[in-house]
Amino acid sequence: MNNEIKAASERIKSAQHLTVFTGAGISVESGIPPFRGESGLWNKYDPSILDLNRYLYSPEEVWPVIKQLFYDFFSNATPNDAHRIIAKWESAKIVKAIITQNIDNLHQSAGSKEVIEFHGNSNYFTCTENSSHLFATGEINFNNSFPKCPKCGHLVKPSFIFFGEQIPSEAFTASSFQATKTDVMIVIGSTGEVVPAANVPWEAKRNGAYIIEINPDISTFTHSITDLHIKEKASKALSQIDNLI
Ligand code: APR
Repeated sequence: MNNEIKAASERIKSAQHLTVFTGAGISVESGIPPFRGESGLWNKYDPSILDLNRYLYSPEEVWPVIKQLFYDFFSNATPNDAHRIIAKWESAKIVKAIITQNIDNLHQSAGSKEVIEFHGNSNYFTCTENSSHLFATGEINFNNSFPKCPKCGHLVKPSFIFFGEQIPSEAFTASSFQATKTDVMIVIGSTGEVVPAANVPWEAKRNGAYIIEINPDISTFTHSITDLHIKEKASKALSQIDNLI
C-alpha cells in the first residue's frame, strides 16, 4: 500500500489541474450509508422510490422514505477527514474543482468552494406548480404527509435530481469542462454505476487524464480506466497521501 500512496502523492504534487470526483463512499465515514454494496440503501429500499413521476403522483407514499433516507440521515452528518483534506488541498490551490454525485453538502461544510453538484443538493425545495416559489429546506414543514408550498399549498420538490430527471445543465457543462482540463482526477467512493455522472471520469480519461481511484472495493472504473487503485477507505488513504504532500 505504501508504494501506491507514494505514487499517488507524486502524481498529485506534479498535477497541473487536479480534480476530484466523489460518490457516496466518501460520506460513509460521516455516517451516511452508501446506495450499493453490503450496507447499501438499495438493499433495503426499492430505487424506484427516487423516480420523479412516483414522487409527483404519489408523494404521500414516497415522502416518508425520502425524508428518512436523506434529511434525517443528513441532519447530523458532519464532514470527515476525507472532505477536510480535499478542502485543504483546494485552499492550497492543489485541487482545482470537485465534481460530486452527493447531495449531502459535506464538501461545502468542510470548506470546499469549487463544488459541482452533479445530482443537485438537498438545500432547497421548489413548488411543482409555481417554479418561482423557491424555499430553503428550513422553511418547509416536514411534518405534513408530504412537503407543501408555504405560499400556495402545492407539492414542493427537493432540489436534488430524481431518477428520470434532467441533470442541471450548468453542472453538466461545468463537469465536462473540468473533465477536458484535468490531467489528474482522483475518483473516490463511487461504483460508477449511474450515468451520466459516471461518464465524467471516462471523459477525463479520454482526454488523457491519469485516474487515481480510492475505494476499498472494486468499481466499474477499476479494471477499465483506473491507473492507480488505492484499496482503502477515503479518510485513511487521503491522510496518508496528505502526509507526503
Ligand atoms: N471510502 C471510500 N469508498 C467507500 C467507502 C469509504 N469509506 N465505503 C464504501 N465505499 C465505496 C463502495 O465500495 C462503493 O464502490 O463507495 C461506493 C459507493 O457506491 P454507491 O453507493 O453506488 O454510490 P455512488 O457511486 O455515488 O452512486 C451513484 O446512485 O442512487 C444513485 O443518485 C445516487 O448519486 C448516487 C448514484
